[in-house]
Amino acid sequence: MTSQPTATVPSPAIADAEPRIRVRGLGKHYGALEVFKNIDFDVGPREIVAIVGPSGCGKTTLLRCIDGLLPHDAGEIMVGNERVTEPIAGVAMVFQHFGLFPWKTVTENVAYGLRMAGAPKAEIERKVPEFIKLVGLAGFEKAFPYQMSGGMQQRCGLARALAIEPNVLLMDEPFAAVDAQTREILQFELLRIWEERPTAMIFVTHSIEEAVLLGHRVIVLKGRPSSIHENIVIDLPEPRTRETLQLPRFAELRERVWSTLMREAREAEFVLER
Ligand SMILES: Nc1ncnc2c1ncn2[C@@H]1O[C@H](COP(=O)(O)OP(=O)(O)OP(=O)(O)O)[C@@H](O)[C@H]1O
Ligand SMILES: [Mg+2]
Repeated sequence: MTSQPTATVPSPAIADAEPRIRVRGLGKHYGALEVFKNIDFDVGPREIVAIVGPSGCGKTTLLRCIDGLLPHDAGEIMVGNERVTEPIAGVAMVFQHFGLFPWKTVTENVAYGLRMAGAPKAEIERKVPEFIKLVGLAGFEKAFPYQMSGGMQQRCGLARALAIEPNVLLMDEPFAAVDAQTREILQFELLRIWEERPTAMIFVTHSIEEAVLLGHRVIVLKGRPSSIHENIVIDLPEPRTRETLQLPRFAELRERVWSTLMREAREAEFVLER
């Protein structure tokens, strides 16, 4: 079944901009397992695209392909004018489980990304405190990951990714491991930071609310192998705030994504039962 986008009004984030990320006909196998096929989408330079889909449908695999960490075996990925065949400069990834070095302090963890990107020492010394402050970790420069809460560790992971001033930010369920209140705080912090420094962002999440709150579009992956089932424009006003959660349109869009996913879950059960 092919579905039309829910809303006809494109987000200002999409209008009139050359895409920063262009994915065309993307396919990926792990040995005999075909994970996804025929994946086509664009992400504008100031656009947040949320991706939802059942566990195992290939969301992490898709992000890793876009990051250049994993080879894809059909189609192509362009970031700006570069074709992705290996990791390229300007693309940063934030992982679900923080991905911090336990033996490094906040300062050293944030500096690591810059060092890997080949930044000179003076630039590292200038930027590290700036990004630690941006994510609200000032005062914790010397803390090790084990001395911080999950939310603080995720802020540190975010600072490390942001410090390289990426033009593409790939987020793989970044808030899945923190409690509900911290998650809400981090969602709005992320929106604040994104408004200060907009980038093209792909945000993978299992939370439909989070996808609709953060995304200018929500892509729903379905099937085995998976492909894009819906690409829904989220025409909510900006900036998104706590009030956004109360809007009737927010509830409508959440229901739309939810019913698409539920249909998918029921189809998956049906396939298992056969
Ligand atoms: N390195 C690997 N080798 C072989 N198969 C893999 C590998 N990584 C993932 N898979 C398989 O590929 C499929 C997609 O995995 P992936 O981790 O991308 O899914 P996901 O959508 O991110 O799931 P989740 O929502 O649970 O994080 C799964 O069936 C998984 O078992
Ligand atoms: Mg995953």
